[in-house]
Amino acid sequence: MSVLHNIYFSGKGTTKICAECIGAGLHMEEKSYDWRKQPCETKLEIPREDVLLFSMPVYGGFIPRMCAQLAMNLKGSQTPAIIAAVYGNRHYDDALLQMKDLLTAQGFWVAAAGAFLAEHSIFPAAAAGRPDKKDREAMAAFSAECSRMLNELDKAQYGEIQVPGKAGYDAQSFKGVPFHPDGDKACNGCMACVDACPKKAVDSEHPCETDGELCISCGACISVCPTGARNYHGDAYQAAGAQFVERCSAYRSPETYFADRIGISEV
Ligand SMILES: Cc1cc2nc3c(=O)[nH]c(=O)nc-3n(C[C@H](O)[C@H](O)[C@H](O)COP(=O)(O)O)c2cc1C
Repeated sequence: MSVLHNIYFSGKGTTKICAECIGAGLHMEEKSYDWRKQPCETKLEIPREDVLLFSMPVYGGFIPRMCAQLAMNLKGSQTPAIIAAVYGNRHYDDALLQMKDLLTAQGFWVAAAGAFLAEHSIFPAAAAGRPDKKDREAMAAFSAECSRMLNELDKAQYGEIQVPGKAGYDAQSFKGVPFHPDGDKACNGCMACVDACPKKAVDSEHPCETDGELCISCGACISVCPTGARNYHGDAYQAAGAQFVERCSAYRSPETYFADRIGISEV
């Protein structure tokens, strides 16, 4: 019985929702790996008979830098991979191409790719309520098509998948955003934010502060805060949010891509 390795990183939880939704639709025995809680710091070999589902949020048009680095620990043997980029209604830019390139270099064969929508984790008024019912239906249809492909791998031959993105992209060009969550007077000192931060940017001595050099603005601290103390604050953030929402509120739909069937396997 082959196993689905469901790997994702999710600061505010929407990438996790998408990874779980797509994973459930594949109807396979599943092992899940949450790279925010447990980054894969040693080699993980995924055999050819298994499947990798790799879901990442889009940060500045790429996947989070720490995840691109962690992906170097994955090792496939022409193992089929499904990639999902989850983004907040601006664009996913080169994220799918980057994911495809990273996994191909690690020995995977990317069978299918999807760009899915979710509430923007810094400016939640953009794409509020996403993924919605239509997004879930799109993910279910994506999983069904992936299952169909995976079930005929012994009979059919597939080529290389084509996904959007510009050749020669520079994944190092995204230097992060100038906004970082911090705590306000509602903080009760519970330290949930200290534990949740994947970059150790919140110090237990001063849990209302955030080390802006370390913080990647993933929002994990916001999602675990029981009192709502942690959030983005300040006039510059409010002003940027208003502009962002004005520019990026038009409804965008999920996009999916599949490797082309190029022939029938010889028997
Ligand atoms: C640092 C950072 C950069 C982001 N860059 C983009 C982007 O380039 N395009 C976009 O549409 N959304 C962008 N987003 C929004 C996230 O991709 C989106 O909210 C995603 O659903 C977050 O996943 P999560 O809920 O699992 O954390 C960014 C979010 C963060 C934190």
